[in-house]
Amino acid sequence: MIGQSMTRIDALGKVTGETPYPGDINLEGQLWLKMRFSDRAHARITAIDTSQAEALPGVVAVFTAKDVPVNEYGLVIKDQPVICGPGSDMPGSDIVRTYMDCVAVVVAETDAIAAKAVKLIDVTYEDLPAVFDMEAAMEDDAPQLHADSPNNIICHYRIRKGDMEAGWSQADVVVEGVYETGYQEHAYLQPEAGLGYIDEEGRVTVIVGGQWVHEDQEQIYHALGLPPEQVRVIYPAIGGAFGGREDMSVQIVLALAAWKLQRPVKTIWSREESILHHHKRHPMRIYSKWGATKDGKIVAAEAKVIGDAGAYNYTSNKVLGNTNLMVTGPYEIDNVHVDTYGVYTNNIPCGAFRGFGGPQGAFAAEAQMNKLAEALGMDPVEVRMKNVLREGSLLTVGTPLPKGVTIPQVVEACAEESYWRRGDGAWHLNRPPQPDNPALRRGIGFACGFKNVGFSFGFPEQNWATIELHGGAEIEEVIVRQAGADVGQGAHTVFVQMTAEAVGVPVEKVRLLTHDTAKTQTSGSSSASRMTFMSGNAIRGAAQQALQLWQDEERPAIATYQYKPPKTTPYHPETGESEPNFAYGYVAEAVEVEVDIETGHIHVIKVVCANDVGVAINPQQITGQIEGAIVQAQGYAIMEHLISNEGKIQNPFLSTYLIPTVLDVPTEVKSVVLELADPRGPWGARGMAEMPFIPLAPAITAAVHDATGVWFDEIPMTPDRVVTKLREHGIGIL
Ligand code: MOS
Repeated sequence: MIGQSMTRIDALGKVTGETPYPGDINLEGQLWLKMRFSDRAHARITAIDTSQAEALPGVVAVFTAKDVPVNEYGLVIKDQPVICGPGSDMPGSDIVRTYMDCVAVVVAETDAIAAKAVKLIDVTYEDLPAVFDMEAAMEDDAPQLHADSPNNIICHYRIRKGDMEAGWSQADVVVEGVYETGYQEHAYLQPEAGLGYIDEEGRVTVIVGGQWVHEDQEQIYHALGLPPEQVRVIYPAIGGAFGGREDMSVQIVLALAAWKLQRPVKTIWSREESILHHHKRHPMRIYSKWGATKDGKIVAAEAKVIGDAGAYNYTSNKVLGNTNLMVTGPYEIDNVHVDTYGVYTNNIPCGAFRGFGGPQGAFAAEAQMNKLAEALGMDPVEVRMKNVLREGSLLTVGTPLPKGVTIPQVVEACAEESYWRRGDGAWHLNRPPQPDNPALRRGIGFACGFKNVGFSFGFPEQNWATIELHGGAEIEEVIVRQAGADVGQGAHTVFVQMTAEAVGVPVEKVRLLTHDTAKTQTSGSSSASRMTFMSGNAIRGAAQQALQLWQDEERPAIATYQYKPPKTTPYHPETGESEPNFAYGYVAEAVEVEVDIETGHIHVIKVVCANDVGVAINPQQITGQIEGAIVQAQGYAIMEHLISNEGKIQNPFLSTYLIPTVLDVPTEVKSVVLELADPRGPWGARGMAEMPFIPLAPAITAAVHDATGVWFDEIPMTPDRVVTKLREHGIGIL
């Protein structure tokens, strides 16, 4: 079953509409919940009057901060109150730090009554000074958001490798840039929705969409002050995630209301509520300076990265850790000096989003690489081949990558399958002809990247699977218990394929039990491109043991296995020395664009993506991931512009925050799927879902430069920005 494009096990139900998503599920006697959010970016709530809301006919309850038993949550740092306001004994929970904070929760007989009631809640705020710029937030006199983070600095990572002075003295050329990346909204198909109720065993249960049922369970039982076994989390179908469902949205308040009222409670966020109230991809400002010898070897690289975490950490300290590693690209450089900061501001919190800090790092690194190629008069593929990490190369953190380093093969495959040919020992670019219309300019760009598979920097990685073999003389049914979330990427189909392969039965005999804390053990999150790798190894381990028991005549034969990959280590605080990750995926992209120099529109004509996936367990799902990542990254690079004014999002609608539609996607995407096994991966598989996102934005900026001669160091490259910058260079007046 490995290598088969098996039809997805969830396909039929989804295309017929029969599959329930969280918002589709109803229980008898259910009530409706609505959240009231902050009206200020930074303020102390001195009073909250809920009497008018409570008096509205049909309102069943109003919950405020005083009602939350342990009023704090957060995936990595519990720095956010569940509900902000007076009356909670959690220090600092009377303060709102962002418009995203929740200040009250209404439960009513209908959604409409709940919506009306939240507006009747009277909140008295005492404004506090606010800060919205990430560098201003680091100043000594800036307002402080959290007592234990002086200068609003959540994390500061350092990399100190080699001798910078010696490096700069060897450099024949030096390129410098300041790179700015914007927010990105996940824009998953289904806005947040869920249902809290008390199950048949008296557990407070939440049906919701997320990325890790057991993590949601932990966040809920912590806030409710309950023992873990009193809380259950179930995912039905999930309408996309991309990192945006890693943190809590409706989970805790649904559980709180259902627990207090002992009745089912439901909520469905509107698209506007979703855009306003879940975290975003981090805007970052990156200062970068690289030097190279005239034959193209990078000899020194220096960078300073600042990421706007917004008002709470979410996964910021982990995201910035990734950027710190990736901001110097997949290159072996002897002399490196990097400082990376995650900074609290009163903006919307930022966190996980496909690539997890990698895209911002790659945007700067690959632009630097392409500028170096230009400064040296070298081909961009040629210069990369002189610098890419190889087997045994040392990372900036002083340790080699895990075995199976394939970035050289990936770069070459991408070049050969796109616009380059190799001849006379060098790489040559073949540009397609320019269009006749003088307003349209075509160009080619190249970029590459790497991305970790799995949780980094010492996080205890693991994944549980249970395999049950039922039958008599023959195995008649295989039950696999594996909690891993299918957020739409097709993970469950791959679990079934891997189970069939590991046990040696046809897929028809495999039944998957998943997405339920009451029926499975933890799998870790569907994130960090880790789920195929981690669950595959767990399924293989469990299958091997179950088959042994089957041999020993046990009926049913049941085995549970916990896969633990090799340990990783955190950054050394002064030098950054570490073994950051146990596996990586490698990717390269070549892009052809057409720039309309009159209107500033960029049309992506073609993307060639070479991605080493180790082994393609389901090849069709692999190309689906590549195409999806490219479209999403195209939105990030040229369209998606989330505007925040003093912490308030100005365009929380898909009519004003524009994501690619079918009319915007590249005319052609060519997926070049390499299968160079990862020695640690199940059947050799590497993670691959984030990788194709990573180099696209810098490949597009390189192509736009090739077309116009102008470098864009800021994304998104919306038409207004493109026109303005081209005019500054005297381009576009026909
Ligand atoms: Mo993903 S951005 O690692 O949830």
